[in-house]
Amino acid sequence: MPRKILVSNALPYANGDIHLGHLVGYIQADIWVRFQRMQGHDVHYVCADDTHGTPVMLRAEKEGITPEALIARVHGEHLRDFTGFGVAFDNYHSTHSPENRAYAEDIYGKLSAAGLIDTRSIEQYYDPVKQMFLPDRFIKGECPKCGAADQYGDNCEVCGAAYAPTELKNPYSAVSGAKPELRSSEHFFFRLSDARAVAFLREWTRGTNAAGERRLQPEAANKMREWLGDEGENKLSDWDISRDAPYFGFEIPGAPGKYFYVWLDAPIGYLASFRNLADKRGDIAVEDYTDAQRAQVSGTEMVHFIGKDILYFHALFWPAMLQFAGYRPPSALCVNGFLTVDGAKMSKSRGTFITAASYIDQGLNPEWLRYYFATKSNGTMEDVDLNLDDMIARVNSDLVGKFVNIASRCAGFIGKRFDGRLGATDPEPSRAFRAALESGSIAQAFEARDYGRALREIMQLADHANQYVNDHKPWELAKQEGAEERLHVVCSTALTMFRDLTLYLKPVLPALADKVEAFLGLPALAWPATWQPLPAGHVIQPYQHLMTRIERKAIDALIEANRETLTPAAPAPAAVPAVATSPQRHAEKQQHQAQAGETVAPHLTIEEFVKVELRIAKIVHAEHVEGADKLVRLQLDIGEAQPRQVFAGIKSAYDPASLIGRLTVMVANLAPRKMKFGLSEGMVLAASDDRGETPGIFLLSPDAGAAPGMRVK
Ligand code: 2FM
Ligand code: ZN
Repeated sequence: MPRKILVSNALPYANGDIHLGHLVGYIQADIWVRFQRMQGHDVHYVCADDTHGTPVMLRAEKEGITPEALIARVHGEHLRDFTGFGVAFDNYHSTHSPENRAYAEDIYGKLSAAGLIDTRSIEQYYDPVKQMFLPDRFIKGECPKCGAADQYGDNCEVCGAAYAPTELKNPYSAVSGAKPELRSSEHFFFRLSDARAVAFLREWTRGTNAAGERRLQPEAANKMREWLGDEGENKLSDWDISRDAPYFGFEIPGAPGKYFYVWLDAPIGYLASFRNLADKRGDIAVEDYTDAQRAQVSGTEMVHFIGKDILYFHALFWPAMLQFAGYRPPSALCVNGFLTVDGAKMSKSRGTFITAASYIDQGLNPEWLRYYFATKSNGTMEDVDLNLDDMIARVNSDLVGKFVNIASRCAGFIGKRFDGRLGATDPEPSRAFRAALESGSIAQAFEARDYGRALREIMQLADHANQYVNDHKPWELAKQEGAEERLHVVCSTALTMFRDLTLYLKPVLPALADKVEAFLGLPALAWPATWQPLPAGHVIQPYQHLMTRIERKAIDALIEANRETLTPAAPAPAAVPAVATSPQRHAEKQQHQAQAGETVAPHLTIEEFVKVELRIAKIVHAEHVEGADKLVRLQLDIGEAQPRQVFAGIKSAYDPASLIGRLTVMVANLAPRKMKFGLSEGMVLAASDDRGETPGIFLLSPDAGAAPGMRVK
């Protein structure tokens, strides 16, 4: 029986560009959707712009246009970017839509009827000039802990402290500069602390869906356990779902001047986009997917792909809202990690905050990125690192060197010597391909979103096919008298294997697969139940080049195009803030940062941090390295029998002789690296200014009293 699945991606805010960080989750979902369809399942894939809230309202005002005009423009840009990367939604809608208003009002009305909405008066900062209540991110002042100036109302970017806006010293409105006043106002709350909600969420987050699968990945389920507390404990607080006018959003029925908070109607946008799609198509029974009872009977699924920063909203508020309004809660959440580029947070000053549009405009092939992201995806919440050199190497070696190479070495002979007609195939090399299909292992990896594993298996098959071509050398057969038939068989066999590889790569590389289907003269490839070679007599089209290599200079140009030199980058948070407030508040803060158009630093757990073994090192010897422009050879004593040799790129800043005898800090458990000049057995730590405003390299030194070998934690 085909599965019936409604799949969504998180809705991007309508006040910012799509960047490569967004694309991780969109590409993962798109691959999954394409795979499911190739398996014969019935999938509806929806998304929309997340349009409401204060940042959109203020940005439109700044641009001198209406919020409606702003969101219409951004809608076009976002859809263009997704389409450019092959992310093919069935519908790309908007939360500022009649469907979304209708669902939001219905859900709110039902929650209210169930006794789950409360009103309470709360005190908040108000901007008397702008005449509006201020979200935390729009209040600035001095940090109550370290006194740093110009810190946001929720946490300090200098010392990392988390606090309430009312704790800021000398607060001012980031909108008008005015001194904010505390004013009280009536707010609406969704009673998440209600015993019914807590009991439901405990079951929902731990349990399995109708197919018997876990709804959450293990890491997400653990987070939920932490947020929900132990049995009998109730750590959830009620959720403030209203905002006061002026606000760009939906006014709450029966409450003039009060609006639904953007996060209330954002996930409802999934349903709104689906409804809008169904209205356009006329053949989808929406309630089979959305109504609690009908969904059970019809066995439909609802799967959300989201980033880990919005897990809180999707694993607590959203299922509870749906459940208590009589809608079906999600079947599964597929949560992805953040993107880092070359191991670091994306940075505008380094040019690694790369927009989707710039990637396309620079003429780079979107399928290079789809492939690379897929190789790095394993179905967990781990962060994905875009290592640019590795991407170049992977794509060039796997796709151009292995995959395309099979067809480019064989197809010409079929065209020139056999009139484009395939011949018989060898049974032996195809055995591995038949076995791969029958084991189902690649399909299982795609299903589990472990695309990295799927691609490793696919590339093993590509190696197998290349080995076959290398062993039989069609270019030599072509020159041998009487080897005509053998040439025909070898090329037909290789192209059959190429067809299989294309089938497996198709969810990841749909545009490339389209070209191959046209070249091989095949209908759209779908996952076959049984394996068959391409039949003798089948006609193929002349071979045309399928994919070019990535050149480093194209990547360099992309980085340059994204480098912002004029605006100094915001200082990076000094440390991971100890979360003094509730996880709910923390989740919302991360969101405010994201919504204000900034990236959230990918957090490191303490367990991850302590894996780095930092030790005090005494420089017992230092010297220039013959033939190296930047390096100094250091001998470091960290209390071991022999000093360690480390090459450090500090020649421009230090005379080696001046270093001998001083203490510094080294990473002692870095894998040793063989360099041209010898083995480097660690790394010393030094500071430098990424923005280039203070040139130089500054080696770290401990305070007096530290001794060689001491652990730095
Ligand atoms: O984090 C974000 O970018 C939000 N705009 C995601 C919303 S997802 C859904 F709930 F709409
Ligand atoms: Zn501070």
